[in-house]
Amino acid sequence: MAAQPAVLITGASTGIGAVYADRFAKRGHDLVLVARDRARLEELAKRLRADYRVKVDIVRADLTNRDDLAQVEARLRDDASIGVLVNNAGSTAAGTFVEQGVENVARVIDLNATALARLAAAVAPRFVREGRGSIVNIGSVVGLAPEFGMTVYGATKAFVQFLSQGLHLELGPKGVYVQAVLPSATRTEIWDHAGRDVNSLAAVMEVGDLVDAALVGYDRRETITIPPLPDAAQWAAYDSARAAMVPNFLQALPAGRYRNVK
Ligand SMILES: NC(=O)c1ccc[n+]([C@@H]2O[C@H](COP(=O)([O-])OP(=O)(O)OC[C@H]3O[C@@H](n4cnc5c(N)ncnc54)[C@H](OP(=O)(O)O)[C@@H]3O)[C@@H](O)[C@H]2O)c1
Repeated sequence: MAAQPAVLITGASTGIGAVYADRFAKRGHDLVLVARDRARLEELAKRLRADYRVKVDIVRADLTNRDDLAQVEARLRDDASIGVLVNNAGSTAAGTFVEQGVENVARVIDLNATALARLAAAVAPRFVREGRGSIVNIGSVVGLAPEFGMTVYGATKAFVQFLSQGLHLELGPKGVYVQAVLPSATRTEIWDHAGRDVNSLAAVMEVGDLVDAALVGYDRRETITIPPLPDAAQWAAYDSARAAMVPNFLQALPAGRYRNVK
């Protein structure tokens, strides 16, 4: 591996992924950019090669298609120059759970959860063997807030957060860094796909600000990075409340409130 590992970024053709590509290229990393829109990937790659003199490869893949996904898994497994995976590709569906229907619900899960976990699973054994590497998973604050009404999308993002925390515990001691980034509303095309006017929201973060903050968390080796959260102590208190329950989960009998109920 070169001094700077190459970075494979999914969903790199626009939005958050394209800005990650710009920032890692600026830091001198070679890139592998993955998305469906080849023309956009080529245009971005051309600019990054010219601006930063890094090597940029393109992989056109629909990560909801198993053959395409297998190609990206193989690249992550076999290409020892790749030392960072940014699992960024994600989408949502317009409407409520009832309106979305089975196919849209499955599509969101396929991309946001299944593809993300498969790509992490493809690369993790190599990173562990090498005793180094980073996996950055893009979640969302929606995964902490069922109140937002984006139920399946939020459920996939809760999955991303849990997966990242679990991987941190398993892979961290083996030298592999795992980060979950939880953005809130950020100005990208995802809102058009969701059928929502981003300008109707109370606050929207610019995508450059979001990625730059996420990279501060990356450089600090945070496990959970929530760029919009003003008071980090709130996350710490939430996580402590969760951790305090854990020793109480192992019980021989159901809790008193569920026994001898008349
Ligand atoms: N923007 C927000 O408010 C916000 C907030 C919290 C979390 N996030 C998360 O941030 C990540 C990036 O979102 P974004 O806002 O940058 O969205 P975006 O502007 O819509 O970009 C999504 C990226 O994913 C790619 N993509 C979509 N479907 C794909 C598929 N089936 N296979 C491969 N690539 C696919 C798209 O490229 P192609 O169309 O070329 O495939 C694009 O590059 C997502 O995981 C999203 O859930 C966003």
